[in-house]
Amino acid sequence: MMYFSSPTTIFVFVSVCLAAAESNTTYPQAKPALAVNFPDPALVSVDGVWLAFATAGNGRNVQVAASASFSEHSWRLLEDVDVLPDPGPWAANDRNIWAPHVYGLEDGRWVMYYAATVKNETSKHCVGAALSTNVLGPYSPVKTPFACPLDDGGAIDPAAFRDPKDGNLYVVYKVDGNSMNPGGGPCGSGGLPQDYRPTPILLQQIEEDGVTRIGEPIEVLDRDEADGVLVEAPSLFYSESQELYFMTFSSNCYSTEHYDISFAFSEHLTMPFTKSSYPLITTQTGPVTAPGGADMTPDGKFALFHGTVGQYESGEPIRHMFAAEAMQMGTDMSAWPIR
Ligand SMILES: *[C@@H]1O[C@H](CO)[C@@H](O)[C@H](O)[C@H]1NC(C)=O
Ligand SMILES: *[C@@H]1O[C@H](CO)[C@@H](O)[C@H](O)[C@H]1NC(C)=O
Repeated sequence: MMYFSSPTTIFVFVSVCLAAAESNTTYPQAKPALAVNFPDPALVSVDGVWLAFATAGNGRNVQVAASASFSEHSWRLLEDVDVLPDPGPWAANDRNIWAPHVYGLEDGRWVMYYAATVKNETSKHCVGAALSTNVLGPYSPVKTPFACPLDDGGAIDPAAFRDPKDGNLYVVYKVDGNSMNPGGGPCGSGGLPQDYRPTPILLQQIEEDGVTRIGEPIEVLDRDEADGVLVEAPSLFYSESQELYFMTFSSNCYSTEHYDISFAFSEHLTMPFTKSSYPLITTQTGPVTAPGGADMTPDGKFALFHGTVGQYESGEPIRHMFAAEAMQMGTDMSAWPIR
């Protein structure tokens, strides 16, 4: 395949450059890594090339972009590839696939997790899985959903993670409780805070085939008052230097300026994570509006995420892809959007 013809390409981050900050108190804006609507990016590295997979757009169920580095102007949308033409018999084929995540299995195959509208209950999404021998697909969907707790609102925002300590494979995802909130406000939040449904983040152990679940999922995080209407978009990594698991996640509704990238940490992957006392990247700390949907590199040093740059006529935010550098220190973590 032409994009990855050179397996010896060595990926270096040297081209990441932090330009001097310009003060703009209205809408301080970093330069997007990819200036197209590309929400909820998920990262995977293949033979020295980075790929980012994102929510439906540009006439595709799943969007893909590629880069040889995180540097400015290096990301390109791959407009000719259709990685998930069929989301599976349980899903509505309505171009409403959210937050796909791709993971390379030990046997050389690739698994894609994604959230799709449930055909028999179109107000809800569930998490599906699909397999391919090629990272750019096409991925063949498993016939039944991977996780589908419809009574609790469905499930979205899957992300695979291999525990480097014991080698076990997991998928973390969000129970989409806010799909059952009273409605009328951002993310269904029309009612009072006491009407907000739980949006727990669950951790599901899986077999090496990427699709067979082992036991029941474990709750590792949930929303509380400080998170507003929800928590979602979990991404896990292990910090070797701090000997801690970190989880980035988003709080509040994506269509408001309160959306953010927050983080939590834990000594044990399968125990509840402790939230930090302040978020990682917010609209206020700038320079990106409504940052969210982050995915970290496995070493925890860089992240891709989206930020709002405008609005469609429908009122839906236009979300470009941005990049950030991150650092962990003890239980603390900081991150700077790359300007
Ligand atoms: C501040 O940012 C906004 C949005 O990007 C832009 O329209 C405006 O011109 C900027 N103002 C200044 C003083 O740079
Ligand atoms: C609707 O579809 C989902 C996903 O396949 C399934 O779990 C659920 O049982 C179905 N509900 C009904 C009423 O058929």
